[in-house]
Amino acid sequence: MKTYPVKKNETIEIDIIDLTHEGLGVGKVDGYPLFIENSLPGEKVKALVLKVGNKFGYGKVLERLTDSPDRVELTDESLLRTGIAPLQHMTYEAQLLFKQKQVENVLNKISKMPDVPVLPSVGMANPVGYRNKAQIPVRKVNRELETGFYRKNSHDLVPITDFYIQDPVIDQAIVTVRDIMRRFSVKPYDEAEHTGNLRQIIIRRGHYSHQMMVVLVTRTEKIFKHEQIVEVILKELPEVVSIIHNINPDKTNVILGKESRVLYGQNYIEDQLLGKTYRISAPSFYQVNTEQTEYLYQTAMDFAGLTKDDIVIDAYCGIGTIALSLADRVKHVYGVEIVKEAIEDATINAFHNEIDNVTFKAGSAENLMKQWKESGIDPSVLVVDPPRKGLTPSFIETAVEMAPERIVYISCNPATLARDLKLFGSDYEVKKIQPIDLFPQTAHVEAVALLVKVV
Ligand SMILES: C[S@@+](CC[C@H](N)C(=O)[O-])C[C@H]1O[C@@H](n2cnc3c(N)ncnc32)[C@H](O)[C@@H]1O
Repeated sequence: MKTYPVKKNETIEIDIIDLTHEGLGVGKVDGYPLFIENSLPGEKVKALVLKVGNKFGYGKVLERLTDSPDRVELTDESLLRTGIAPLQHMTYEAQLLFKQKQVENVLNKISKMPDVPVLPSVGMANPVGYRNKAQIPVRKVNRELETGFYRKNSHDLVPITDFYIQDPVIDQAIVTVRDIMRRFSVKPYDEAEHTGNLRQIIIRRGHYSHQMMVVLVTRTEKIFKHEQIVEVILKELPEVVSIIHNINPDKTNVILGKESRVLYGQNYIEDQLLGKTYRISAPSFYQVNTEQTEYLYQTAMDFAGLTKDDIVIDAYCGIGTIALSLADRVKHVYGVEIVKEAIEDATINAFHNEIDNVTFKAGSAENLMKQWKESGIDPSVLVVDPPRKGLTPSFIETAVEMAPERIVYISCNPATLARDLKLFGSDYEVKKIQPIDLFPQTAHVEAVALLVKVV
């Protein structure tokens, strides 16, 4: 049997020397790494070994023997335990530096591009209460319907009312909806038994418009007394313009089911970004941090160096926010997005903002790029904003064949960004990368890269 330098349940003193990309402190015992929550580089801690794995283990701080200057007081321990705010024990300056370094690390290790400048992360003046959307699981805890968040690596619900990084009006609305559900004796979902009804409460609130959408996700088709429930929600939450019932009958971690119906009002909310108005329906993607998104889009447009002659492709365009933000500076924009409802939103958004030099298509970006290439569309600028898994090799191949002069890559995952930048190969030079903090207090990193065609 293999032996390790530490044993489970052993208490050790250990120096923290690094941070994982998830924000866990790293200490080493005879070269064997231990990952320890709520510890920072430069600190010495007394830790309990919780788990010993093949290549690394996990520990828990019993006592901090020294404090890092990057440490701030925890506002709420459960925000660490649930992973809602895994960096809340770090000063905001240290968080921003941590994110810049992460981008530098992957560029070094994965892309082998150590010379590409990674600019300092752009942060928020007030890096809390920024999320415009909440997806909150509902479970029974101590015989009562509760809202909160799962303990990390589990599906045990920790009741929480102050989510710290969410718009406080949304936090308050969740408590209001929770109390209404209790009053009407709605049955919370039981995941283990696959019984009960209410699985999730989702709330979206426009940052500027203050329009609110409430989505109730249930296991069954029926919400008992739903007419009265709607009436009370509207009375107690006057910002609500949309109440949606989504049915998810499956045993699954996926939040939304396929079937939705409107219980009240419209099936979307509206909000503004960079002076334009957007409709956002329930299944459509919309960036959760509105203030920083405006900065992100502005940076993407600056990097793209747009002119009136440019033909732009906005791949992974969602409800068309990037395409429509830059449309009046260029000749034409083509947008592609896989979620059909998002493309319906994008088309209506173009119409309402009186923009007619855009073409939106529903479909996979990989296929549409090929079709556009075959039909002779010749973009001078390509903007990509893919999900965490990044681009596919076939997308990159087609993009290189189309040969746009500039590519702006917006990424929410530095590892896949670094992998993809390498795949663009010698045809493109990566000029610079700007991390922008869209997710303060969490370990998520957003960055914009500029690639220029090598002539
Ligand atoms: C990070 S979001 C960006 C959306 C938009 N650019 C914005 O800023 O709001 C990524 C988008 O890609 C879409 N998507 C995922 N896979 C796709 C694919 N294979 N082809 C096209 N769009 C896809 C998602 O539905 C989502 O709207």
